[in-house]
Amino acid sequence: MSFGRNVADIDNLLDNVYCGLVARATWTGDFCYLKMITESINLPSLIPARLSTMSNALNHPVQQTSRRGFIKKAGALAAGSAALGISLERGAHAAGNKEIKFGLIGCGGRGSGAAGNALRGGKDIKLVALADWFEPKALAARSTLKGMFKDQVAVDDNHVFSGFDGYKKVIESDIDVLLIACASHFQAPYLKAGIDAGKHVFCEKPHSLDAPELRTVQQACDDAKKKNLNVVSGLCWRYSPVVRETIKRIRDGQIGDIVNAQVHYMAAPYRLTERDPKWSELEWQMHNWYHFFWLAGDQCLQQLIHTADRASFAFGDPKPKLVWGVGGRAAVLGAKYGDLFDHQAVVFEYEDGKQLTGVCRNQVGTWGDENDAIFGTKGRASLKRGTITGENNWRYKGPNTNMYDVEQAELFDAVRTGKTINNCDYMVNSTMMMIMATYAVWTGKRLTWDEVWNTKTTVLQPAYNWEMKPPVMPNAAGEYDIPIPGITKVV
Ligand SMILES: NC(=O)c1ccc[n+]([C@@H]2O[C@H](COP(=O)([O-])OP(=O)(O)OC[C@H]3O[C@@H](n4cnc5c(N)ncnc54)[C@H](O)[C@@H]3O)[C@@H](O)[C@H]2O)c1
Repeated sequence: MSFGRNVADIDNLLDNVYCGLVARATWTGDFCYLKMITESINLPSLIPARLSTMSNALNHPVQQTSRRGFIKKAGALAAGSAALGISLERGAHAAGNKEIKFGLIGCGGRGSGAAGNALRGGKDIKLVALADWFEPKALAARSTLKGMFKDQVAVDDNHVFSGFDGYKKVIESDIDVLLIACASHFQAPYLKAGIDAGKHVFCEKPHSLDAPELRTVQQACDDAKKKNLNVVSGLCWRYSPVVRETIKRIRDGQIGDIVNAQVHYMAAPYRLTERDPKWSELEWQMHNWYHFFWLAGDQCLQQLIHTADRASFAFGDPKPKLVWGVGGRAAVLGAKYGDLFDHQAVVFEYEDGKQLTGVCRNQVGTWGDENDAIFGTKGRASLKRGTITGENNWRYKGPNTNMYDVEQAELFDAVRTGKTINNCDYMVNSTMMMIMATYAVWTGKRLTWDEVWNTKTTVLQPAYNWEMKPPVMPNAAGEYDIPIPGITKVV
């Protein structure tokens, strides 16, 4: 099968991969799996679990840190962080030599990455509990992280949890901070459970897959404010020094008054897990969770959210008045791709007349890129690239501290110093925009914020266990039904 890429392309791509951990690709048939690069970061062994795929490498936002430049830049990290006012290396808890203990739910690519980012934030930070649906994944993450942060990984066998209740046991462990990076379906309820239990929380995006769950997130974040608990979102670009500096310049008027924005996320499909005949339908969907809406949402919620979130940041995070769009499934066919569309285009309209257009695609062998363009009366900006063109040409040249490190450093620093970060407003706003986008594309209708905010449709299930029947099952042809614009309804 041809991917329209040669080895040099792949190498260039990998030069741009840095998602908390450095990765290298090896081609295996249709997909390209990423492994830890031992020589760059002195890992004792290759991570045993498959972390991610080439599509994930494309799909997930990456900082402009090359694997060749990683070591050099790691040294510059401390300097860059100091410039940002963050202490990445602190020996003691500000409140008095106390360790900050954290637990992780979801030990895949991002979860392991986020734990590494957190541990890099100071010797006083300790990982003490882990949970994954699948015990081997939790054990693999423990072993990899232990190899990298020997003195900071203190997860004994009694604190490696698996199954559907593993999350509860992590929350019940002696932890101050909870990191959540599991199948997106569960992130909202786990965020709530963490805040209810009085933990500071880092939660990966998307923050929910439907409006009822998102209303729960809003409520939980309001509770967090009352309890002075930190809530940090995995909408990581808000922590990028490049984005922050570009935003400052936009706020200073360097592109004039913002008129509209255009964002895109063009990528290969997420990684696939082939069905193992030993697995039940539920187990297969859990292994292949990125391709099922009830577990992952769609590309709007998974990927376009990052680019739209940047544009929304530039706009000042107003609620869009309404959204309309188109989408469908044209090129990734077959049951293994679950029940998702493979392309979407949406337009958000705002009260003040601004528009935000978003386009995304998950197809094999197609052009891949992700970027944002913010158009103003005096020029245009790209937050991702850190550029302004027009009356005030400019390019970001400051420290390029990794945003995944920054988000964890700021979270743990806040815990140490008693400050409180609450990312709730944009977590809810940007997630809601993507739920609106999904529903507009599915239904073919023009939908308002209020209509979608008040919907009752939810992916949440009454109970979770290994015997449960997934809410989506193959049809008579062995395929999964997909929405049909004009016919599909959400209520
Ligand atoms: N901010 C970013 O740049 C970024 C990048 C990648 C992924 N993510 C987000 O992070 C989350 C995880 O993505 P990933 O790429 O690491 O996926 P992954 O499949 O690599 O890892 C997820 C892990 O969580 C486990 N898991 C899933 N649901 C679970 C549950 N309820 N309880 C315990 N374990 C569970 C799975 O077995 C798997 O090992 C997703 O929400 C994704 O959108 C964010």
